[in-house]
Amino acid sequence: MNSLISDAQKAGERVGLKSDTIVINGGKPLRGAIVVRGAKNLATKAMVAALLGETPSVLRDVPDISDVQVVRGLLEVYGVKVHDTASGEMTFDTAKVESAHFSDIDAHAGASRIPILFCGPLLHRLGEARIPDLGGCRIGDRPIDFHLDALRAFGAVVSKGVEGIHLTAPNGLKGANIELPYPSVGATEQVLLTAVRAEGTTELKNAAIEPEIMDLIAILQKMGAIISVEPNRVILIEGVDRLEGYTHRALFDRNEVASWAAAALVTGGDIFVQGARQVEIMTFLNVFRKVGGAFDVQETGIRFWHPGGNLKPVTIETDVHPGFMTDWQQPLIVALTQAHGTSIVHETVYENRFGFTEALNEMGANITVHKSGLPDHPRRVARRDFEQAAVITGPTKLHGANIYVPDLRGGFSHLIAALSAEGQSVISNVGIISRGYEHIIEKLAQLGADFVYEG
Ligand code: EPU
Repeated sequence: MNSLISDAQKAGERVGLKSDTIVINGGKPLRGAIVVRGAKNLATKAMVAALLGETPSVLRDVPDISDVQVVRGLLEVYGVKVHDTASGEMTFDTAKVESAHFSDIDAHAGASRIPILFCGPLLHRLGEARIPDLGGCRIGDRPIDFHLDALRAFGAVVSKGVEGIHLTAPNGLKGANIELPYPSVGATEQVLLTAVRAEGTTELKNAAIEPEIMDLIAILQKMGAIISVEPNRVILIEGVDRLEGYTHRALFDRNEVASWAAAALVTGGDIFVQGARQVEIMTFLNVFRKVGGAFDVQETGIRFWHPGGNLKPVTIETDVHPGFMTDWQQPLIVALTQAHGTSIVHETVYENRFGFTEALNEMGANITVHKSGLPDHPRRVARRDFEQAAVITGPTKLHGANIYVPDLRGGFSHLIAALSAEGQSVISNVGIISRGYEHIIEKLAQLGADFVYEG
């Protein structure tokens, strides 16, 4: 923004900008360079892994996001001394891990799903674990049933009460044969973090093999664990008596990279994402190219841009790795509103992840969500017992709107839709986006977006 008052600033003054709200003046391409650091979905798990080490751990490239703060707070409740630097290096001293009062644990309730991963490490270190309410919902068996079944297989005794979930291991934790009903990322991490110090060998079938899982395995190996990744989603873990601390640079955030790539395409811009690597996002890059985006893989990052010409429609299915990630479909769908023709996105990982499209339709998009799927377009891989598809017909001109951000990825999509739209948008509940996108407001400014923000 220059010294003259921008259109977005004028609009902000007109609406009397409320906190946690951004006013965007759309239609301006995003151009420039930004840095993407460690993945939210790895760094937070690596922090939990530090609890297993008898000596201090050092994690580099830790993103400055609220999910990291939630996990840090919970580690501190258990006596872990956490030290961080401005460059994103965090040190975890686990010399005095101790039991915590439930009120201190409960202070972290409702903020994140990560606390469920404390079960194994706490059982090993303290002989018991108490888990607060996760992500705002009352804890029931359903969303964490794979986790609890796996923990029971190791010998944990699980009880539920008003004080969340309580776990003990009266006879210690023993290696187990576990087959997940679905290659769940979280449940695979649960098994890894528990099996590494359990007595004997654990065989995990139908495991998730996302790059974040591989990075967690690399960390655990540095700590002294013995883990082999076998063909066909089988992971073997030989339990050991003691683990040391680790020093590790977190894997880059693939979801953030895909989000900025979509932002470049949607706004007709050009963004260099420093820190992005090719191998872990090849599936995304293929789709990005098919839609009509251009990219150039460089030594220190990847440049994404709109090369001109019409965008093309695609049909995709979200899936577990190496498929197209569920977290990539939301920003991509904004680009598909500009493709010439009809695109179809099948969501196969979550039952209800198209809610954000309603706001896009209010902005002028033509998206129909089929809650029971499309009988004429069966999915390639039917892993779950639900069908869900979004049909996007383009190109449609987007115009500004008033939007309340529903969730992290949906919220980012609303931001980039507003940045590409004609006119002004007022987007509230923006803070939720900082759960997973580091320095989002600063990055928008760096890329030349025209906006005003009230934090
Ligand atoms: N599921 C169950 N029972 C369980 C566990 C999972 O039914 O006990 C179901 C879920 O309801 C879902 C499916 O299995 O339908 C997949 O869930 P998964 O366990 O793989 O997901 P997660 O570990 O909870 C992580 C990421 C998500 C990402 C998914 C899929 C973190 C903190 N979250 O979630 O990221 O979408 O894997 O890759 O790692 C995000 O970053 O915005 C985000 C939602």
